[in-house]
Amino acid sequence: MTAKIIAVVNQKGGAGKTTISMQLAGTIAQKGKKVLVVDTDPQGTATRWASSASDDSIFPASVIGLSNASDKVHREVKKFIEDYDFIVIDCPPAADSPVPQSALLVADLALIPILPSPLDIWATVGIKKVIESVMTINEDLKGRLVLNQSQPKTTLTKESEDILNEFGIPLCKTQIQQRQIYRQSAVYGQTVHSFGAKAKSAIAEMEKLTKEVLKLVGS
Ligand SMILES: Nc1ncnc2c1ncn2[C@@H]1O[C@H](COP(=O)(O)OP(=O)(O)O)[C@@H](O)[C@H]1O
Ligand SMILES: [Mg+2]
Repeated sequence: MTAKIIAVVNQKGGAGKTTISMQLAGTIAQKGKKVLVVDTDPQGTATRWASSASDDSIFPASVIGLSNASDKVHREVKKFIEDYDFIVIDCPPAADSPVPQSALLVADLALIPILPSPLDIWATVGIKKVIESVMTINEDLKGRLVLNQSQPKTTLTKESEDILNEFGIPLCKTQIQQRQIYRQSAVYGQTVHSFGAKAKSAIAEMEKLTKEVLKLVGS
């Protein structure tokens, strides 16, 4: 097997990189695939997420920490490529680190969570430049924005969609809404699936995003 690699990147902290990395990796793993999350953020949030799971509810994907790999992340990740079906790289903010650029060198897909706010959209211009420069080397790299913490009926979300449709990197059809359950998920070290019926809408949108992502990487 050769793993498909998804790098979750943005210029800023707080856009939802770790949340989307973990939910996506967990959702793919629940379908019987072998999934590795590479936590490249020195804050180790993804690693802590997985270690919050109690013994009887183990996080369904493997998680390793690579916080010292710096601009060598692509080399480190390649070592795991034959052992997994999917590798999700949770990156630190690109403004603070050379990691995203390195991760994008080996990625099939750059997934860019973005909040529906002008300040966050402006900041994303930075990561767009990084992605475009890596695309000249890694010609198969695809990029997708994913609107996170969206509130579908608000003017702000609608205006954000309009701006993002002109951004130059396509927007995923699936939006991830602002929901308390995503925060609780981190506390219990799980995906939204473990909350059952009360997480019905969150489960549906994560499944939809996963389907979209799998299609983009050709799986
Ligand atoms: N869709 C969402 N709904 C509610 N809270 C969210 C959502 N996505 C992320 N969060 C919360 O926002 C904060 C930042 O998310 P996080 O995934 O840590 O961002 P990043 O990794 O980009 O810094 C966290 O407290 C997280 O629980
Ligand atoms: Mg993070």
